[in-house]
Amino acid sequence: MNGIFPIEIRKFVEARLGEQAWPEIVRSAEVRPRLYVPVADYPDQEIAALLSAVSARTGDPIPVILEAMGEFIVPDLISMVPTFIRPGWKTLDMIANTEEAIHEVLRHAGTNTNPPKLMCRWAGSHEVVVTYTSPRKMCTLAKGIIRGIAKYYGEQVAITEPTCMLRGDAACQLHVTVI
Ligand code: HEM
Repeated sequence: MNGIFPIEIRKFVEARLGEQAWPEIVRSAEVRPRLYVPVADYPDQEIAALLSAVSARTGDPIPVILEAMGEFIVPDLISMVPTFIRPGWKTLDMIANTEEAIHEVLRHAGTNTNPPKLMCRWAGSHEVVVTYTSPRKMCTLAKGIIRGIAKYYGEQVAITEPTCMLRGDAACQLHVTVI
């Protein structure tokens, strides 16, 4: 996974638990201490071990941590790709355009970064339906990112998830409505 994720896990831990907590998380995750950089990719197992250690430390299940993290990382995600984001966009435009304007571009950036395929369709002027599939099954991260984008644009969203890979469905469907 792209270095932005372990970097953000560290920032998230330090913001929530204090700076001293990071070396403890790394120790209990049993991963080699290292400085993560955004242009590199790191093994998914290492990210999973860090998330499990955060979960053990806070008592929150991993999906809850991923959702909170998704919201937390949006300002940094946006600052990663400022020129890909059109000035007139609001929450739903940003979500509906992420696949072509951002994820697809990052897939061809010459690294192993491989963001999930998001299939998005407008269902009226106030709703976008996102179909998410990924072997990583991180739909809760997606929900957090959506909430973070809404916060960034000063809007409120409601999200329903009629199908979910974590409940055994083939894909997660996120219905996102601006309220
Ligand atoms: C500024 C906007 C965004 C940027 C710059 C961005 C960038 C990235 C990057 C770099 C990754 C790591 C992929 C890897 O290392 O293989 C990623 C993963 C991911 N992104 Fe995005 N993303 C953005 C918006 C979104 C939105 C709007 C959603 C959901 C609606 C989303 C959902 C996800 C999920 C769930 C993952 C986790 C990996 C997976 O599921 O396989 N992202 N994104």
